[in-house]
Amino acid sequence: MLDELNEQFGRPGVVHFEAGTGGLARAVISTPAAEAHVYLHGAHVTHYRPAGQEPVLFLSPRSRFEPGKAIRGGVPIVFPWFGARAGHPSAPDHGFARISEWAVEGVGQSPDGVVSLILALQPSAATRALWAPDFRVAARVQIGAELAIALEVENRSAAAFSFEEALHTYLRVGDATRASISGLEGVSYLDKTDGLRRKTLGGEPFRLTGETDRVFLDTRGPHAVADPALGRRLVVEKRASGNTVVWNPWREKSAAMADLGDGQWRSMLCVEAANVGDGAVTLAPGARHSMEMVLRVARDAAPT
Ligand code: BG6
Repeated sequence: MLDELNEQFGRPGVVHFEAGTGGLARAVISTPAAEAHVYLHGAHVTHYRPAGQEPVLFLSPRSRFEPGKAIRGGVPIVFPWFGARAGHPSAPDHGFARISEWAVEGVGQSPDGVVSLILALQPSAATRALWAPDFRVAARVQIGAELAIALEVENRSAAAFSFEEALHTYLRVGDATRASISGLEGVSYLDKTDGLRRKTLGGEPFRLTGETDRVFLDTRGPHAVADPALGRRLVVEKRASGNTVVWNPWREKSAAMADLGDGQWRSMLCVEAANVGDGAVTLAPGARHSMEMVLRVARDAAPT
């Protein structure tokens, strides 16, 4: 399979396909502007590093890389439901997209050097057993001085369907206890650590002080994660996303997560572009919806 992928989509010196961790196939992208890894498993970007910067995405050293299991870190694609699926206790959390094998549909490079990969997921016996509608989902990943991921969902059924989605970005931070997130000031949220109670954030950038699992309502972005420990800001822009989810399991909960490892929670902060809950998207037959996230690094003062 790797030979065929390289023959059809490889670009010498820029994009090649190889067996990555756990033997799973991945695209390795390397340009003067950035490097990245994209697994076909989940259309999952696990690594992105713009030139001259430290990696932008957190990837757990204990992540599983196995068919049917989710990768812990990078940018998991959540579709077509978020979290546990109501009424279906045996359905996989966060949907099947992140644990499915996607197909490469195209690789390109623009004149300014930005590399694009298009991966697609269509119904299979495994997905139909979990979710009946006919659909096509495409992930368009663009790698350059910024990382852009667009998730395009098309309804190929004869009837309308609704879905939830998230680009569950694990940002790599120097110290989550000192990081803060802007763009959420005064915004209402559902607190998943407190029975989904609806609350409203104050007027200051959000600083995490413990386990955090919040679905912010009606957000447009951009969000900037200030990370004094690494002396940088990570800027998350989003389009066609009405929710932002912020998650960090903190000390106790992460200790119980086999695929995270001791102390790793300090180095990660999930800021997710999403459409979930009341923000779920409904598509008429033949209609499409595209949600996009763009991630870039802004330098701050020296690390403190
Ligand atoms: C977040 C959810 O998006 O993902 C959390 O809001 C969840 O509730 C977290 O714990 C991680 O989910 P998972 O399935 O990857 O362990």
